[in-house]
Amino acid sequence: MKLHPATEEHLQEIMTVDREAFPTPWSKKLWMKEISRTERAYYVAIEGQKVIGFGGGLLAGDDFHITTIAVRASNLSKGVATLIMVKLLEDAVKLGATNLTLEVRIGNLPAQALYRKFGMVPAGIRPSYYQPDNEDALIMWANDIHEQPYMKLLESIKQSQKAKEVLSS
Ligand SMILES: CC(C)(COP(=O)(O)OP(=O)(O)OC[C@H]1O[C@@H](n2cnc3c(N)ncnc32)[C@H](O)[C@@H]1OP(=O)(O)O)[C@@H](O)C(=O)NCCC(=O)NCCS
Repeated sequence: MKLHPATEEHLQEIMTVDREAFPTPWSKKLWMKEISRTERAYYVAIEGQKVIGFGGGLLAGDDFHITTIAVRASNLSKGVATLIMVKLLEDAVKLGATNLTLEVRIGNLPAQALYRKFGMVPAGIRPSYYQPDNEDALIMWANDIHEQPYMKLLESIKQSQKAKEVLSS
């Protein structure tokens, strides 16, 4: 599995994964805009020739905001999202971010577990944020992602992911 910056050539497959993962996937226009603008980082995970996941976000002031992340149902729980998150965090720091934030459905416990692994903690609720079902959003944050303790956390996540890959090969 390799990570690659998302480009127009990946769009069809990205949109297939997006439709599979979310009730309100992004339009082609929005995807085009996001992957072509500055102060953003969008990656695809590719296995063989196929896109099996994607993730990305944008810099807003000092904060890197993860806007989307998803992995194909057939490739879940293999560490794909973990590797995408590591890459996004590395890019976020290069872009000058000092904090990480995102919104996640209050009932999306697997995603919240992923974000907690990356040191994110709940910081508030946006009521009825998600449509069409009015589900609340949980706002999560991690601070000081450019500082040494956070870099150490990222390194330990990378090492344990490598160890899991060795054990499963
Ligand atoms: C959330 C999502 C991206 C995780 O992708 P993934 O590649 O399966 O995640 P990973 O294998 O890297 O797992 C990372 C961590 O997430 C958590 N996690 C993943 N799947 C989980 C599950 N089914 N239940 C509980 N925790 C889970 C665990 O903490 C895991 O760490 P661990 O393996 O060290 O225990 C994936 O479930 C997905 O695409 N969901 C649909 C789209 C979505 O909800 N995106 C998030 C929007 S905010």
